Amino acid sequence: MKSKSINIKLLVATSNPGKLKEIRRGLKGLPLKILGLEDEAITARYREKGKTFMENAKAKGLFYSQFTDYLTLAEDSGLEVEALKGEPGVLSARYAGYKANDEKNIAKLLARLKDFPLSKRKARFVCCLCLAKQGKILKCFRGEVRGWIIEEKRGHYGFGYDPIFFYRPFNRTFAELPPEKKNLVSHRGRALRRLRRFLEKNLGRLLE
Ligand code: IMP
Repeated sequence: MKSKSINIKLLVATSNPGKLKEIRRGLKGLPLKILGLEDEAITARYREKGKTFMENAKAKGLFYSQFTDYLTLAEDSGLEVEALKGEPGVLSARYAGYKANDEKNIAKLLARLKDFPLSKRKARFVCCLCLAKQGKILKCFRGEVRGWIIEEKRGHYGFGYDPIFFYRPFNRTFAELPPEKKNLVSHRGRALRRLRRFLEKNLGRLLE
């Protein structure tokens, strides 16, 4: 890789500010200028159709990398609850319908789980990241973290299902963890560290 003063543009194909923040933090220090869809005035939105997070991440990478010459990073992530056979899964963002928000999604999930004791509320977050350029996938990365869905929200950090995702090793929900602590163990943190190692080795070559 060349000098750290080079700023290579990386388009992060998400309109979720919570994800963008975590991705910026995870790639901090690399010679990248990280841009969101809004920075590039890209208003087209990919309508997810995949059955898995990886399918969606690849499809988003192919779609958004057509709009610029920059390296493009697409992300798809969500929560899978074992007792609900993997729900909300790829529907995590719109679990409560197309007008869903974090609060409504959490309310729906807690209602679906109301008859399950804590011992049956095992869950995992999954994150898939795909790096693409001009309509081609270069490489994908995956990360996951296991936890439990508690009955009431706790904490104010983070976004999405963080307030009800309890991470036993820290005895906290993800919303009770400051960002740097969540990143150490989260699905996105893990996938981002894999991506980071790949970029550290290959960034120069990817731009040839
Ligand atoms: P999508 O990847 O845009 O389809 O949205 C993923 C959804 O999964 C988010 O809107 C959140 O509801 C949930 N999600 C993904 N990652 C996290 C996380 O780190 N914390 C909490 N919720 C998350």
